[in-house]
Amino acid sequence: MTIVLNTLEDSFSEQINELLAWKDDEIDIINTADLKIMHCMGCNQCWLKTPGVCAIKDDYEIVLKKLAATDNLWIAADTKFGFIDYRGKQVLDRIVPMLNMYIEFRDGWERHQLRYHALNFGVIYKGNGNQKLLEEWSTRVARNMAGRSLGVIALDVHQAESKPFNANGNIVENASGTAPDTAATLPEHVLILNGSPRVKKNSNTNKIIQAFAEGLEEAGITHKLYSLSNHAEWDEAREAFMTSNNIIIALPLFVECLPSLLLEFLSTLPTERKQPAKLSFILHSGFDEGHQLRLGEKFLKTLPAQLGCTYGGTLVKGGSFMLRDRENSYIKKMTDKILTSYTKMGQSFALNGNFFTTEAQKFTGPEQNPWIARLLFNLIFKRIVKKNFERIAQEWGCTRPLNDKPYLAQQR
Ligand SMILES: Cc1cc2nc3c(=O)[nH]c(=O)nc-3n(C[C@H](O)[C@H](O)[C@H](O)COP(=O)(O)O)c2cc1C
Repeated sequence: MTIVLNTLEDSFSEQINELLAWKDDEIDIINTADLKIMHCMGCNQCWLKTPGVCAIKDDYEIVLKKLAATDNLWIAADTKFGFIDYRGKQVLDRIVPMLNMYIEFRDGWERHQLRYHALNFGVIYKGNGNQKLLEEWSTRVARNMAGRSLGVIALDVHQAESKPFNANGNIVENASGTAPDTAATLPEHVLILNGSPRVKKNSNTNKIIQAFAEGLEEAGITHKLYSLSNHAEWDEAREAFMTSNNIIIALPLFVECLPSLLLEFLSTLPTERKQPAKLSFILHSGFDEGHQLRLGEKFLKTLPAQLGCTYGGTLVKGGSFMLRDRENSYIKKMTDKILTSYTKMGQSFALNGNFFTTEAQKFTGPEQNPWIARLLFNLIFKRIVKKNFERIAQEWGCTRPLNDKPYLAQQR
């Protein structure tokens, strides 16, 4: 069984059907334009309160029920910034209930356990897609689901030659954005955007920003923060983005790339800037292995040029999942250490004005957990981590096992 989530106009379903017709599978094209589907807000209820069931009561439950009985998933989407647009990313960010909270090592990498079964994944895109980046992303997404990439297909192939991305996946138009902007001009004031869809008080990104800004303030640098989870702040945030000369976007990794909410915000920015700005990023994620964030970093590197900005580098670090949990004294001690390191990076940014320093590069930590850490995790820590998640779930009022399969009846 193959499902296509078509986020393009319904009229594309015929073309998509023809594209996939050579496969033997039964193909079910779901035209999402006919459905009400919202952004994942990162509330984690599908993992810790109602395992497998999303807290957002919109039409996505139809999709989840079908996915529980599917082997292959394609996303058909338009493109923006060389990646799939926010509508395409939106339907994928909501896929998280297909995994459960428990963590394991698969193929040597930290992964969440599958709630149902492996899922293969592919992308069909329209417009100026960065083919190389999309291929790598598709492979990463599929691996998270213990499946394989079905491939990345451009709908309008004849456009391929005019695409602004070279064979290495780098943008060729206005290449300045991909080159590091290491100019010595130091910031006096920084605009910071929190790109997480999770409400500010619960957002790990917000904890990181607070710690980082402490470092800026110690060096006499002021900042203004906008949280994109609050739609009421968007107009002011857009205005500030267009008039500031030093901007940092702090964001969590969502399904190997940017949260759909942030992609939507960025697509609403005017394309022409009056004055140039340096745009830097703080990218963090649940898993602590640096390698898990590298595709996200690669994409971020292409963004400044497309937004009329220069690139100030990306501060990359995993292991942020528990930052907001300040109740448990052991977790607090651990997370305090991480937050202090962000304050130091705030001081470093104040001194250097970018994230290209050796300090910032080292900040990521190991790209992969060494085999001994993986072994110890499997022998000892896996059970401790599991118990910890079960404790949180109990506090959240969860009454089902965390690996519950609510849509099992829909399976073959
Ligand atoms: C929809 C969704 C997708 C995510 N995808 C990834 C991922 O691909 N890799 C990862 O390491 N963490 C992933 N995470 C974990 C978040 O990056 C992490 O929990 C982060 O601390 C959330 O920050 P926030 O509280 O500010 O939203 C994901 C979380 C959500 C809700």
